[in-house]
Amino acid sequence: MIKFPNNFLWGAAASAPQTEGHDLLNGKSMTTWDKWFEKNPELFNQRQGPQDASNVYEMYHEDVLNMVKIGMNSYRTSISWARLLPDGVHLNVEAVAFYRHYFQDMLDNGIEPIINLFHFDMPWWLMEKGGWENRQSVTAFAFYARTAFEQFGDLVHKWTTFNEPMVHIESGYLYGYHYPAIVDFRKAVQVGYHTLLAHVSAVNEFKKNNFDGKIGIILNVSPAYSKSTEEADQQAKEYSDLLNIKSFLDPAVKGIVPEKLVKLLADNHLLPQVELGDAYLISNNCIDFIGINYYQPCRVQAPANSNNIAKKPEGFFAIYDWPDKRINPYRGWEIYPEALYDVAIMMRDEYENIPWYVSENGMGVADEERFMNNGMIDDQYRIDFIKEHLEQLHKGIEVGSNCFGYHMWTFVDCWSWLNGYRNRYGFYRVDLDNHFKRSIKKSGLWFKEMTENNGFF
Ligand code: BG6
Repeated sequence: MIKFPNNFLWGAAASAPQTEGHDLLNGKSMTTWDKWFEKNPELFNQRQGPQDASNVYEMYHEDVLNMVKIGMNSYRTSISWARLLPDGVHLNVEAVAFYRHYFQDMLDNGIEPIINLFHFDMPWWLMEKGGWENRQSVTAFAFYARTAFEQFGDLVHKWTTFNEPMVHIESGYLYGYHYPAIVDFRKAVQVGYHTLLAHVSAVNEFKKNNFDGKIGIILNVSPAYSKSTEEADQQAKEYSDLLNIKSFLDPAVKGIVPEKLVKLLADNHLLPQVELGDAYLISNNCIDFIGINYYQPCRVQAPANSNNIAKKPEGFFAIYDWPDKRINPYRGWEIYPEALYDVAIMMRDEYENIPWYVSENGMGVADEERFMNNGMIDDQYRIDFIKEHLEQLHKGIEVGSNCFGYHMWTFVDCWSWLNGYRNRYGFYRVDLDNHFKRSIKKSGLWFKEMTENNGFF
């Protein structure tokens, strides 16, 4: 039997914008997602917008009881910045009451809340001032972070600053998936730098004011594997890891921006604008723990034309279509659990064996209703997926990696940005035609048994 350490955190992750609903009610102001949907609803799968999120605002108690039913002992979600501080300055008392009830309810039921501050949801008033391109956002974020620590610090003892900062940077400024959907590598680097400063500023607020608990960040880590051992392919791997992983992991954990990254950006005239004192802030605000989101690896090779570097990261590395890859046929992503072992070893050997947990892992399935069998989604594929990943994680823990938990994306099927409800990930199905009614899937029953045993056969 595969057994996990005592007190291992078993749970799931989600975010405020993807679950709360009540998007423009109860004092919340607009976010980029609300605005984008208002302007261009046709971009969203089946015109499902932020207001279609699964109504946790009213249903959180039922959700907490459902968490207990499957043996979860922890849950990560985020606070909505635009709900807590609608204009960036004044507290929304209804938001304070909502989050306090929600977090207290989790605690009363043995669920540890892990609370994140930013999950792709920039308040619109700030986006109008340039969003993360504007350095003022750093100060605004630090104020928001401090407000959250003050309001909820007695209930929350694990905080994270950002979810997947690389995703809002590249989706917004390189690949066109998120607002403002522009393609500009220089801007992307500046946005990334401000995001990093916002992160360290929030950590600084937490530490200098001696708030109780631990603080970290959540990074998407897709380790790169190169096509061959040839120098050019190895170089592509190094660039991919530098840009996609180390750019945040190194400063967050070690307080250092990798020298090679600085050189790469300088050589290509991509360095961001910095100010005196930034380096001090970065080097003095390392995190206590880290969340790693792992879905799939990154297969890379040398780019065909490396002269065209400064346009996009593809100038540094090209994606390689590995012929042997196993694919999740319902989402198109590669399934490669072995990378989770490699990540565990990387955290142990290259990142001071810092405490870390899998903050997201999961299997998205489009049109999952087709697997309905006698009133329940028969998602054996998801159970197999989890088991294979847990086996690799367990191997990593056995050789000393300091992993303290595993969270699935996600607990209840949720709204996912432009994809709406296309890809389902939950242990519980949500019925969009029946007031967001939740019903357990086969994977939820399996997870319950697994958490009861703290492992599986
Ligand atoms: C994760 C994000 O990377 O992927 C989530 O943190 C997102 O916000 C999830 O919903 C699934 O994405 P998709 O595109 O398959 O719906």
